[in-house]
Amino acid sequence: MRFEQRVVIVTGGSKGIGAGCVRVFAAEGARVGIIDRDAAAGQQLAEELNAAGPGEVQVVQCDVGDAAQLQSAINQIATTFGQLDCIINNAGIHPPATTIDDTSLEMLDQVMRINFVSTFAGAKFAVPHLRKTRGTIINVSSMTAVLGQEHSTAYAASKGAQLSLTKSLAIELGKEGIRVNAVLPSNVDTPLMREWAATLPDPQSALKRVADLQVLGRMASPEEIGRVCLFLATDDSSFVTGQGIEVEGGASLDY
Ligand SMILES: NC(=O)c1ccc[n+]([C@@H]2O[C@H](COP(=O)([O-])OP(=O)(O)OC[C@H]3O[C@@H](n4cnc5c(N)ncnc54)[C@H](O)[C@@H]3O)[C@@H](O)[C@H]2O)c1
Repeated sequence: MRFEQRVVIVTGGSKGIGAGCVRVFAAEGARVGIIDRDAAAGQQLAEELNAAGPGEVQVVQCDVGDAAQLQSAINQIATTFGQLDCIINNAGIHPPATTIDDTSLEMLDQVMRINFVSTFAGAKFAVPHLRKTRGTIINVSSMTAVLGQEHSTAYAASKGAQLSLTKSLAIELGKEGIRVNAVLPSNVDTPLMREWAATLPDPQSALKRVADLQVLGRMASPEEIGRVCLFLATDDSSFVTGQGIEVEGGASLDY
């Protein structure tokens, strides 16, 4: 019950890594607000977890790319639950692989808006609530922020922007007792990963190739990322701020 009596918002919490976070925090007694454009999937998850307890999960439908919607969703959850202790800025997209020649500036705009601007905005709108609880901000970035990724320039740049935002915001908010960290997963078995594999001629061997990139020989589960977020949201990590925690199963070793 490490998050009992506390409140966390998870953007993109209906599926994938976000859903893994929701499961981990709800199991620790948290009150969880899911912000997601797919409210139906979020509702299904909320019903399952509310029946299981001990946490409580509510869903607000919202496109995080729309700042006004995001601000009102964050305020609604903080008001309903009476406080906010953590926001996990996780919602994100990965467009299909393209060269720089074939990446339109409209696509770049969209990727930056959903992956980065929403992270900035999520933090900005959560801070007034987090000041009252000396809470935490967790940004779900990616190992592509530090390693790059071929034919994914827009995506990797959006993830790098999340990481530098994390460091600067940690400096700004440290004296107020608000810690800001990022999580950098390598490869996680999520709907996003499987949708990507499905665009390739042989999805099963593509998923095997991706699993083999980690020295552990497999992808992470969404809950494994959720448990690192739980660490960053609790006093177990009370002296950790401004860090990009690489949760990558050894993917960057043995170059
Ligand atoms: N899967 C991986 O291997 C991996 C690796 C590194 C980083 N990440 C990052 O983790 C985050 C989650 O990825 P995932 O694999 O779980 O993706 P996913 O597609 O499986 O799930 C993403 C969730 O976010 C929601 N979402 C997407 N766009 C939204 C929007 N505009 N407004 C509201 N909700 C929106 C979706 O509805 C979905 O519920 C992303 O930021 C991604 O960049 C994923």
